[in-house]
Amino acid sequence: MGTCIGVYNLYKTAAGGNFLANEAAEAPAREPHVKVAGDHWHKWIEGRPMQMLLWSAIAISIGGIVQIMPMVFMESQVPKISTVTPYTPLELEGRDIYIREGCVGCHSQQVRPFRSETERYGEYSKSGEYIFDRPFLWGSKRTGPDLHREGGRYPDSWHYNHMIDPRTMSPGSIMPQYPHLADDELDLSLLPAKIAALRKLGTPYPEGFEDRAIADAQAQAKKIADKLKSEGVKDEGMETKEMMAIIAYLQRLGTDIKK
Ligand code: HEC
Repeated sequence: MGTCIGVYNLYKTAAGGNFLANEAAEAPAREPHVKVAGDHWHKWIEGRPMQMLLWSAIAISIGGIVQIMPMVFMESQVPKISTVTPYTPLELEGRDIYIREGCVGCHSQQVRPFRSETERYGEYSKSGEYIFDRPFLWGSKRTGPDLHREGGRYPDSWHYNHMIDPRTMSPGSIMPQYPHLADDELDLSLLPAKIAALRKLGTPYPEGFEDRAIADAQAQAKKIADKLKSEGVKDEGMETKEMMAIIAYLQRLGTDIKK
């Protein structure tokens, strides 16, 4: 309806005018720049758009190269934090579920160094905390709170209930429900390949870790399932569900720095 009114409006406006075949184009004559005493030295380039474009592109590239190249080519220039270690296999699966479910669309993982952020979320994020994040999940939208310091903030059962229905834990929440995470079986079949791929990219998983990865994930999932039971969750057979992976991942977020 709005489009129809818009089209009609455009038509009436065009029809209401009268056609002018030729209109004399006018512009003031260009005046040569004369040097005036007191002009800045960079005045010469400010009136020359092409030169300005070229030289500013060169200047910006030099700045960029000086800053970025050492990080790309020199291992020692990558900021590292000794307590930051690679994700466990189960956390890795949880991270992939986090990506699959689009959580990054509503949650950032980047606490900025402002009082308002550190008071709410905790210690601000350091670049060295992200070196094992491939791809990074900084996010650019905060419909929900930042999750970079989420680990350890709540018990596992809180996350369990919150995922099944956020309203039970956080009245009035607009976060969607993810009850399927408690129903769907966790598929670990790609884990060895994921570990191998990440090692190729530089994540220091020990040689042969692929072969142990699935058992490692199952053991961690069992621990979380037991924890849920001890915290009063009634559902059975949780140790093989995707829920274990997402909880493992959320509980890991931002905790390395506290070790
Ligand atoms: C449509 C936006 C939206 C999506 C998508 C979303 N969330 Fe949320 N999330 C929120 C909002 C809003 C809150 C704050 C209210 C609450 O606690 O439920 C929140 C809160 C949270 C919290 C509690 C944070 C805290 O410290 O209080 C966690 C954990 C969380 N979300 C995890 C997830 C995960 C994991 C996913 C993906 C499976 C996800 N969210 C997807 C909007 C979203």
